[in-house]
Amino acid sequence: MSYIPASEMEILFSKEQIAERVREIGKQISADYAGQSIVLIGVLKGAAIFLADLARAIAVDATFDYVAVSSYGKGTRSSGAVKLIKDIDNPIEGKNVIIVEDILDTGLTLSFLHKLMLQHRPKSLRIATCLDKPARRIASIDADYVCFSIPNHFVIGYGMDFAEHYRNVDDIRLMPPDLPE
Ligand code: IMP
Repeated sequence: MSYIPASEMEILFSKEQIAERVREIGKQISADYAGQSIVLIGVLKGAAIFLADLARAIAVDATFDYVAVSSYGKGTRSSGAVKLIKDIDNPIEGKNVIIVEDILDTGLTLSFLHKLMLQHRPKSLRIATCLDKPARRIASIDADYVCFSIPNHFVIGYGMDFAEHYRNVDDIRLMPPDLPE
């Protein structure tokens, strides 16, 4: 791909706007689970940055685990097929679990992971996502905690990539629409 500098892309959410919403979601989670422990399960690689920030905005006892799934490949189009590449390391039976994702798009990834995690018999299971694109939903799944709902735009930054690039961009930006896929 020809690399377009992120600085040339329009900002959708600034790092300050993201930090404010993450703080609010962290407070909400802390209140919802007051006096309890939670396990945050991050979906690699996109959710790594959101999880790192969200975890530090949460006041209750929290441990981390990570899963990895194959989804988008190298472009902006989903293949539709979801496959588990890395499972959780520690048992979650009887625990309060929150799956942490960067973006809920068609919902195929999270509905797959939600069903999979339910098989481990957690005490509770919720979903936190930084972005939600409800217009693109194929699978019937919703998140319990959402920083921002957005229209059908492809975005990069704050952990989200295009062909593995731009994950380190600290705000969320709109990818120009006329890219080869
Ligand atoms: P879903 O299975 O269609 O919900 O896709 C979820 C995954 O697709 C996310 O975890 C992202 O990795 C990827 N994805 C969906 N939309 C975007 C986007 O706008 N930018 C970057 N990645 C995206």
